[in-house]
Amino acid sequence: MKGTKAFAALFALLLAGTPAFAATAAPQGDVFSRVTARSFTGKALPLATLRTLTAAAFSAPTAVDQRSLEFFWVTDRGVLGRLKTASPYATALDTAPAVLVICANMRDTRIADLVAFDAGAAAEAVLAEAAHLGLHSVPMSLAPVKGRIEGSQKALGLSRDIVPQIMVAVGEKAPDAVSGASAKRHDPARVHLNTWKNGL
Ligand SMILES: Cc1cc2nc3c(=O)[nH]c(=O)nc-3n(C[C@H](O)[C@H](O)[C@H](O)COP(=O)(O)O)c2cc1C
Repeated sequence: MKGTKAFAALFALLLAGTPAFAATAAPQGDVFSRVTARSFTGKALPLATLRTLTAAAFSAPTAVDQRSLEFFWVTDRGVLGRLKTASPYATALDTAPAVLVICANMRDTRIADLVAFDAGAAAEAVLAEAAHLGLHSVPMSLAPVKGRIEGSQKALGLSRDIVPQIMVAVGEKAPDAVSGASAKRHDPARVHLNTWKNGL
């Protein structure tokens, strides 16, 4: 009897199409609406927006729950300019109103080999939340390149224990910005189920 009731409840949930069970035909969610931009209007973002994006960064998982990341926002054009000298590919820093530099605090890090993954997960959370807020973004790597790590440490006045991993520029894209979206990159040939030859 108990089993029948449980089954009926589960069936009702399925019929109701609750998000936990619903099979989606098309990709949904903020992660699919991410839009890259490397050229921005420069319109300042409210501090409240930076706080919301920071909350997203903190929501990301970390290896062994080490939570050793430090989040360093830069909005000052002078500091952005100095940061730009650390990476030749950080063109977004020329116009972005805000950049989040995600660093690992090595004093609090238990598994150093995994902080890059922690930072990557946090960066992706920021990209998705930016999309949710209707903003554009681009990630730019710093680690593992020694020159970029040391250059950004110098630009931000960081001690050697605080190691920049990746930064995320966020803002409103310039009207002429070339932007893309990752949602259309799905490649079934690179998806495998149980064996290499089986697709999904
Ligand atoms: C680990 C990583 C490092 C990246 N570094 C840079 C960078 O230094 N400069 C840059 O302009 N874009 C950088 N990007 C952004 C990629 O170039 C971009 O995401 C890629 O071209 C795909 O385009 P899409 O974001 O429109 O899907 C980086 C992306 C990742 C994931």
